[in-house]
Amino acid sequence: MLSNRAGDSKRSSLHGHWSSRMAFILAVTGSAVGLGNIWKFPYIAGQNGGGAFVLVYLVCVIVIGMPVMMSEILIGRRGRRNPVATMELLGKEEGSSSHWRLVGTLGVLAGILILSYYSVIAGWTLAYVVKSASGVFVGASAEAVGENFASFVGDWRLVALCHTLFMGLAVFVVARGVERGLEQAVRFMVPALLFLMLVLLGYSINSGYFGEGVAFMFTPDFERLTWNSVLAALGQAFFTLSIGMGAIMAYGAYLPEETSITGASAAVVTADTAIAMLAGLAIFPLVFANNLDPADGPGLVFDTLPLAFGQMAGGVFFSTVFFVLLAFAAWTSAIGLMEPAVAWIVERFSKTRAQATVMTGSIIWLVGLGSVLSFNVLADLKFLAGTIFDNVDYLTSNIMLPLGGLLIVVFAGWVMCRNSTADELGGSGTLYKAWRLLARFIAPVGILFVLINAIK
Ligand code: PHE
Repeated sequence: MLSNRAGDSKRSSLHGHWSSRMAFILAVTGSAVGLGNIWKFPYIAGQNGGGAFVLVYLVCVIVIGMPVMMSEILIGRRGRRNPVATMELLGKEEGSSSHWRLVGTLGVLAGILILSYYSVIAGWTLAYVVKSASGVFVGASAEAVGENFASFVGDWRLVALCHTLFMGLAVFVVARGVERGLEQAVRFMVPALLFLMLVLLGYSINSGYFGEGVAFMFTPDFERLTWNSVLAALGQAFFTLSIGMGAIMAYGAYLPEETSITGASAAVVTADTAIAMLAGLAIFPLVFANNLDPADGPGLVFDTLPLAFGQMAGGVFFSTVFFVLLAFAAWTSAIGLMEPAVAWIVERFSKTRAQATVMTGSIIWLVGLGSVLSFNVLADLKFLAGTIFDNVDYLTSNIMLPLGGLLIVVFAGWVMCRNSTADELGGSGTLYKAWRLLARFIAPVGILFVLINAIK
């Protein structure tokens, strides 16, 4: 097939390659499945009234998330460099401008900002491993579990310590490189997490409030849907799929030529969505059974699940394993959040991977202190979207990711020539046509429409 790729037809990445198609799918799934599914999805859905939000979220995942993910992988594989250099290279190669590198820069920044608070919440899961194992939740009441959470996040030193520990873990794996470590972790973690979510689901079904939970999640009440909640649903779709900031582009750079991008994307989107739905179905019945508030906020998972485990036979074991898995899920996502910045520093400043990772990790750790303090010392410092944590979250999920995604689909759909994209997506059949229609029209118009309406 004709293509305008200059020079060598098969580039290779400086950072190594995935050992197989399965390794790539696992890595992208590992990046996608994380706190976004289990911690964030339920509380955001709760704060935005449930049903209608969930419906908009699902629509966003399919008509916007899927084409953006495919675009990101194909751009990454074609450029085979860090997101900044890839966008610059392809911008020139496709006869446009090298300024497209700014999309990569936006992604590097978004990754740093997201991980700064993500690591704080992941630190909470580490603390909950210890709490679960100690048995404090056995037979505990909803009030006791709630108070335990409040006093924990109120102690900034402890929260800072957990944040530090988690960043240490993330730096450790990223410094070791693409192939080692990561694959093994995901291969075991995703199925195990799925299994425990099913155990929790079984408990919820028996809670007597399963119907209320299902109704809350799936009965759309459009009266309660504001443009801001539509934006939150769009932002959540981006966040949970890890798209719009170059993580998937960076992973795509290590993807072997033969792998089907469409197939891999479909597998990841399905697994990610299934885990989020399961988390919602496990959590909302517990919320109603215990008279808790679905709009409780970031503490929702920490206030509900320990309660359920506390009542279960073998709860100490299950609860400990669950928080270990959640920490693992966060860990494999943190890697994706760091990868664009690290790959960029390695290529741009000729640093070793270890040096680049430590530099990036230290910056993120420092920025993260703002979120550590948002739940205690600086809890009353509110501006724009709320606390420092709320602002970093709003800015990244609701603005930077959709904006990054918009630029990415526009680039793949309008700037790259048909031959280049058909080459990467394997031909110009129906699936290709569907992708192109979504990438050129539906996704960009959809994103713009939501952004404009929510922000005006
Ligand atoms: N998708 C991850 C989650 O749901 C978060 C993430 C976002 C990871 C962006 C990488 C890049 O937890």
